[in-house]
Amino acid sequence: MSRYAQIVGWGKALPSRVMTNGELSQIVSTSDEWIRTRTGIRARRIAGPRETTASLAEQAAQAAIETADIHPTHIDLVIVCTFSPEFGGMPSVASLVQDAIGAERAGAFDINAACAGFMYGLAVAQSMIVSGQCDTVLLIGSETLSRFLDWSDRTTCILFGDGAGALVLQATEERTGILSSVLGSDGSGAELLTIPAGGSRQPASPQTIMDRQHYIRMNGREVYKFAVKVMGNVAQEALERAGLSASDVDLFIPHQANLRIIESAASALGLPAERVFVNVQSYGNTSSASIPIALCEAIDEGLVKADDRLVFVGFGGGLAWGAAVVQWGVPATVRRRGWRLLWHGMWYSWARGRSAARRIARKVDAVFLDGSWSRNGHNGPLAKHARRDGRPTDRLLDAAKDKASTLDRRR
Ligand code: UT7
Repeated sequence: MSRYAQIVGWGKALPSRVMTNGELSQIVSTSDEWIRTRTGIRARRIAGPRETTASLAEQAAQAAIETADIHPTHIDLVIVCTFSPEFGGMPSVASLVQDAIGAERAGAFDINAACAGFMYGLAVAQSMIVSGQCDTVLLIGSETLSRFLDWSDRTTCILFGDGAGALVLQATEERTGILSSVLGSDGSGAELLTIPAGGSRQPASPQTIMDRQHYIRMNGREVYKFAVKVMGNVAQEALERAGLSASDVDLFIPHQANLRIIESAASALGLPAERVFVNVQSYGNTSSASIPIALCEAIDEGLVKADDRLVFVGFGGGLAWGAAVVQWGVPATVRRRGWRLLWHGMWYSWARGRSAARRIARKVDAVFLDGSWSRNGHNGPLAKHARRDGRPTDRLLDAAKDKASTLDRRR
């Protein structure tokens, strides 16, 4: 029996703070007219001080869990696609979300393929389900790009926004859900879209901060040319792999970076405007989150029905790109049940409480069990065990010393 990965839940989270082009024109030398005509963007959302990539991801995840009508313990894997993670290198945002929603059976990891991240996440989720490794995957795209923007650089700060979108994917034996996916990359274009410092090549230093190297830097014109070329081609390839053509597409949901790029991809595929979903005007480019947010809004607007064929296409830094063809398989309606919301609300509170209790228990362990309460660490019960049995490292050291003295004696 073949297995397919079907989208059964969807949800989004957007910060309430709206920043218009007019407001931006008071920060940098730009205008509403320039931004609208070059990009189609009119406004974007900006995360508040208490909103982070993980908190938006968690909200979107909770909404997707509700529409999927599942319990968090059914989730086998949490994937978060982001290039604006909660912490520099670790822990992953996915682990934070897994803990916050009490998905206690789930593995968790992040994917960074910049603005193509969601397409990579979707392909990985599909593979995990089709291979039988997982039955239920929570896939999230979440970004707080406003934290990585140089608000004095008008070529980047006008483009990006914050938000999160989440999907729940489940195994099905019906030929529905993700029918095909294609991924691609061309690292020769790596320098076109980067955050230059903060990694192993240029670790953070006072100099990198002074040089404003921790912000997004982009060669917009080159990225534009790449996007226009790749979007139509990769969508076409995904359609061919699914045995379909552009005329079979009911709704095209591309990465929302720039209206002109979307229009040129749609025209390359010969798709009329009514079969192309656009919301870049409201949110700007939310990177990994843009496609799932757009899908949620398309569903809200009644544009997605059972058996519809959808095409998702993403592109971004790397350079990286991807596309997928999805046949919609479930009713695109949300069944809100009060009792379930209440039960899940209680579950999330319990998960938070349990997480806090575990953190406290670890601290208690550290203080009373491993001996770190005493100044030299030699008085705790574990330290006593170690003295009696010898720690593994002590035993290895002793063995090495014995060997060295035997060799000395032989000489
Ligand atoms: O997810 C992937 C992320 N990246 C993208 O999708 C970006 C793709 N690229 C783009 O969307 C477009 O290249 C931009 C919107 C970034 C720029 O549009 P463009 O038509 O390629 O403009 P440009 O970079 O060629 O700049 C044209 C002019 C320049 O002035 P000069 O040199 O002609 O005098 C810029 O300095 O526009 C100027 N400019 C601005 N003017 C007012 C650049 N940014 C601004 C601005 N306001 N914000």
